[in-house]
Parts: sequence; structure tokens; C-alpha cells
Amino acid sequence: MRLILLGPPGAGKGTQASGIVKKYNIPHISTGDIFRKNIKEGTELGIKAKEYMNKGLLVPDELVVAIVKDRLVQDDCKKGFLLDGFPRTVAQADALDIELKNLKYNLDKVINIEVSKDELIKRAVGRRICKECGGTYHLIFNPSKTEGVCDECGGELYQRKDDNEETVTKRIEEYLNKTQPLINYYEKQDKIVNIDGKQDIDKVYEDILKALGGE
Ligand code: AP5
Ligand code: MG
Ligand code: ZN
Repeated sequence: MRLILLGPPGAGKGTQASGIVKKYNIPHISTGDIFRKNIKEGTELGIKAKEYMNKGLLVPDELVVAIVKDRLVQDDCKKGFLLDGFPRTVAQADALDIELKNLKYNLDKVINIEVSKDELIKRAVGRRICKECGGTYHLIFNPSKTEGVCDECGGELYQRKDDNEETVTKRIEEYLNKTQPLINYYEKQDKIVNIDGKQDIDKVYEDILKALGGE
């Protein structure tokens, strides 16, 4: 299965990705996660990306495209992949089309998770993430059993630096200007499936599996 997860910041891409990649046994490629790992490790890429991410701006296309190209040629992508948060601009989508053609990979579906702006801000501001395993929680919508501690691994939960109201608002603006046009882009390729992301996490997942023809 070769998939893209499209949707505004806080829509639930990462949350849904974890179930989908287990179900189809495919690698989860989140460009946001790759950047955060590089920031943590203090790499050159991390230093460049941080400047944009902390302001809620998109990282320049050439940086993002290069890391995704490197990732897609790895062996584990032969069995399929889930791209989470990439592409985010028409230029990135064009570059991806070319790369997929080179690799003779055909995209199956683009899952578009739809959520209103008010809800996005609530979701992002209340989000907490496990330092150890990356597990995602929400203070109200999806709390861990013990506050501040991951249910899965006991790791400490933290808040992303870009998850404050001001930066989230900027991220949403970037999404509307640069990423939303991709819905039409992939509609033209007849790949889009629209999913109502305002429902409970489990119901959203169920709808995604249905749309992918699984159950
Ligand atoms: P990235 O990390 O991809 O952030 P994002 O797109 O802003 O999306 P999020 O990760 O914030 O949200 P999500 O949809 O994964 O939601 P989640 O499942 O966590 O990118 C970060 C930055 O990196 C960008 O701003 C940019 O600077 C840079 N970047 C990355 N890729 C790039 C690219 N291709 N080009 C250029 N720059 C790039 O859920 C959110 C919260 O809601 C959680 O707390 C969760 O528990 C809760 N929740 C989830 N589903 C539900 C539900 N159904 N009901 C109630 N609560 C829910
Ligand atoms: Mg995410
Ligand atoms: Zn954990």
C-alpha cells in the first residue's frame, strides 16, 4: 500500500498513521518527525529546519524533497509506505510524482483528513507527546492514564514547541495557502478520499480502513 496522509496541522495524521502502518506493515514517513529528530541531534538539517518550524512556516521545498527522496529509495519502502505531512506544496507534489515514476511506484490513495479551524487549535494546544516512543496524547481528548507519563512505555510526555496558539494559527495559514491546493491536485489524479476527522479517533480510523478497502 502506498499512501499519503493529507490534512491541516492537528488533524490527526500522526494519530491515524500509527494504526495504518501496523495494519499494512509499511514504514511511516513523517517529515515533521524527521526534522524533529534532526533538531534533537543538532544536525545541519535540524539547525536549518528549526528556524522555520518554530515560526510555524514551511521548511523550503528543496530541503524536504531531498530527505524524502533519500528515504523512498530505502529497501523497506519496497513493501509500500505512508507519507505523513508530505507533500505540502505543489512543487513537492510534482517532485514526488517524478520520483515515484523513477522508482516505478504507483500511489494508491491520498487520505485527506478534514477538521475545522477551531478544533485544530484545541487539538494542537492540548497535545502531549512521549519523549521515548513518540506516542501521541491529548490532555482532554486522549489523556494518558497517569498525567505526564506514556501508557505504552512509561516515558515522559512533552509539549511540542510549535504547539502554542500563535504558532498553530500561522501553521494553519500556511496550510490554507500552500497545502490545501493539493486536494484538487490529487482529485485530478483520482486518488483523494475525504475523511471526516471531527469524529472520535476510532471512528476516523474505521472510515480510513473502509476507504482503503480493508476492514
Ligand atoms: P508536522 O509535524 O507534520 O506537523 P503538522 O502538519 O502541523 O501536523 P501535526 O503533527 O501538528 O498534526 P497531526 O495531523 O499529526 O495530528 P496528531 O495526530 O498529532 O510538521 C511540523 C513542521 O515541520 C511544519 O510546521 C513545517 O515547519 C515542517 N514540515 C514538515 N513537513 C514539511 C513539508 N513537507 N514541507 C515543509 N515543511 C514541513 O493529533 C493532534 C492532537 O489531536 C493530538 O493530541 C491527538 O491526540 C488529538 N487527536 C487526534 N485525532 C483526534 C480525534 N479524532 N478527536 C480528538 N482528538 C484527536
Ligand atoms: Mg503529526
Ligand atoms: Zn512512550
